[in-house]
Amino acid sequence: MSRSFSSHALPILLMAALPNLAAQDVKELPKKDLRAFFSINCVVCHGADGSARGADGSRLKGQDFTNAKEMKDFTDADLAKTIRKGKIFGRMPSFKDRLSDAEIMELVQQIVRKAEKGKVIAPGAPEK
Ligand code: HEC
Repeated sequence: MSRSFSSHALPILLMAALPNLAAQDVKELPKKDLRAFFSINCVVCHGADGSARGADGSRLKGQDFTNAKEMKDFTDADLAKTIRKGKIFGRMPSFKDRLSDAEIMELVQQIVRKAEKGKVIAPGAPEK
């Protein structure tokens, strides 16, 4: 009996934890959901699709990730370094305290490098 109890206890515990997650400040989302992380922390300057355009088409502050000509001048290590350290005296904040090096590299390779104009990176995710 105790065996079958413990095999059912985990899903129940996980379900009990979900409302707590929802109640947290959205900035505390699990870091592994890098698309949601992008939506919350990067879209304001880099746009929902990474093209550095706002919803109204206005030019935002950040780099346009969909500009292949500009992006080919950066190595993955360059892009990762910017995410780690920030850029231009704080015009882009540093994310080294919030993302591991592995998460930063995943963000570069799976999200930044794959940005396509008009293709929303995190459909349905909250935006700041
Ligand atoms: C407050 C605005 C702002 C936010 C927020 C922001 N960035 Fe940036 N980002 C910039 C600016 C400004 C640049 C430099 C653009 C330029 O040089 O023309 C930049 C450049 C970059 C570059 C290009 C590399 C480079 O050296 O120029 C990458 C990659 C990047 N940002 C990723 C991110 C990611 C990922 C996030 C979220 C985790 C993020 N940025 C959040 C403003 C921002």
